[in-house]
Amino acid sequence: AFGVAVNTAFPSLRDISPEAARPVVRLPGGPKFPHDAQCDNAMSAYSALSRAGQLPAGVRSPRDVGVAIAAALPPNGMIARTEVAGPGFINIFVNDGLLTSRCASILKEGLQAPPRRPRHVAIDYSSPNIAKDMHVGHLRSTIIGDAISRILEYAGHRISRINHVGDWGTQFGMLLAHLKDTFPDYETRTPDISNLTVLYKEAKVRFDDKSDPEFKQRAYKEVVALQAGDEVNLRLWRTMVEVSAAMFNDVYKRLGVHPGLYLCGESFYNPLIPSTIEELSSKGLLTEDEGALLMFIEGEKVPLMVRKSDGGYGYDSTDLAAIRYRIQDLKADWLVYVIDAGQALHLRLTFKAAEVAGWADPAKHRIDHVSFGIVCGEDKKRFRTRSGETVRLVDLLDQAKAIMIERLQDRKEGAEAAAADDSTPGHAAAASASVITDAAEIEATAEGMGYGAVKYFDLKQNRLSDYIFNYDRMLSSDGDTAVYLQYQFARMHSILRKAAEKGHDVDGAVAAAAITITHPSEHKLLFQLASWADAVAEAEDSLNPHVLCKWLYETSTYYAEFQRDCRVIGDENFASRVAIVAATVAAVKTAMEVIGIPPVNRL
Ligand code: ARG
Repeated sequence: AFGVAVNTAFPSLRDISPEAARPVVRLPGGPKFPHDAQCDNAMSAYSALSRAGQLPAGVRSPRDVGVAIAAALPPNGMIARTEVAGPGFINIFVNDGLLTSRCASILKEGLQAPPRRPRHVAIDYSSPNIAKDMHVGHLRSTIIGDAISRILEYAGHRISRINHVGDWGTQFGMLLAHLKDTFPDYETRTPDISNLTVLYKEAKVRFDDKSDPEFKQRAYKEVVALQAGDEVNLRLWRTMVEVSAAMFNDVYKRLGVHPGLYLCGESFYNPLIPSTIEELSSKGLLTEDEGALLMFIEGEKVPLMVRKSDGGYGYDSTDLAAIRYRIQDLKADWLVYVIDAGQALHLRLTFKAAEVAGWADPAKHRIDHVSFGIVCGEDKKRFRTRSGETVRLVDLLDQAKAIMIERLQDRKEGAEAAAADDSTPGHAAAASASVITDAAEIEATAEGMGYGAVKYFDLKQNRLSDYIFNYDRMLSSDGDTAVYLQYQFARMHSILRKAAEKGHDVDGAVAAAAITITHPSEHKLLFQLASWADAVAEAEDSLNPHVLCKWLYETSTYYAEFQRDCRVIGDENFASRVAIVAATVAAVKTAMEVIGIPPVNRL
């Protein structure tokens, strides 16, 4: 509409400055502004016209330009009215009718994603290493990757969730050598390796010990035997993979990671490497260098190590076979790699190689490195424990849960104390009704909230930046935290529950969805709900879950204002207002599920 208006009001502008004629409509700078959106073309249009000496008679300021554009707006169903403010900003007020009908459709059909051409997305995330603990870097890949896979699935794409675990390679040599020393009867019995990470640490110490070159050599022989298919080594290797996978699964369960994430680690691609190398070689893309095979790529200083000089395959070889497999066999047309920024070069080389080799066609395949920064301690350095070790993921989750249990316990005791004090009987009963007293429910809620808080704190960051891990901030009940979102969500539920308890016809009001706007806070909230599809589109294009976190946080703050300003139970607009609450519940629930934060109904 604004494109037409600019053109009608100033037909010559398009030729003078196409830039200034292109309408810029944006959201206002914050919730304090009464208008819904604004068009800022007047200022640049004025300077373009005056520079060209083409200002029409009577137009003496940018403000006059704004007034002229607003007056030329064609009639449309979206805009209720406009207002020219300051030096020429055109403030836009959206039609209530549009917002109430959007709100009714949320009640009827749920929150809808914008229509997209569906793709098959192969997303590589989490990808920890067998026999090692998952650390905070893997935490980020897991959380961000899970959220992105959910967003893309919600947006209508088909998703293959690939856990590219490090389950092959030289580290198994030292593990096997050490394992055989530790469990001499390994030939006949399956060793107990439930303490795999300890075993790994011990093996690493021996491997790095310069006074023990013999161990190193044995380790090397064990890998060669493993890769050549030695039965005993394969059996031991498989046991280690299983033990690790069970540990990873425990973390995934706690974090609510989508069950579709499947193991397809480095070992899977191993048999595919020789044919991959053959193809690259037959296309004349490889260079031999002292027995090693390298792939140089135009514009890049560092080559890919396609085959090592000892004939072995490494990280590069595996990723070349993997990208070829994902495009040609899996037939994915969108590849997403959720890996820390430290691997940017490796991925850039791999992506370029896939193009040079003719596997990836830029017109057909979209390939993204979803990069992210590091998690820091308060000292702004890589997050470590006091003793300097990398922080174990499970310990972080345990801690978050423990803090939440304590908090819920305090609330319960507070409510009980108030109930015992019969000087305020009505109050106490009301307070205790919405407090969780059941131990099992406290535990489940603490898990949902504690883990949810860790996830949300990670997702709400711009993923490229580093962040400081801080329980106080992530578990705070006000500010942009999962706890705050959960708190507002529980308040919405509490209104619905109370209304039903008092005998009001909540279901009838929701089914009728007869919504009218009678207060500006209602308008704001409904405008926010209507902005969902734009937020999803932005999150999808940029692969940035924080866009949806921002949407959730803003929705929660608009809801808080609505609840402050608009009485629901006992108001003459009850039917409309309770429908607004129900629509907000439906919207927030969907949005939380789309980024993978478990909603909590009661606090
Ligand atoms: N296992 C690797 C690590 O811990 C991450 C693997 C990521 N995926 C890949 N296709 N390279 O650093």
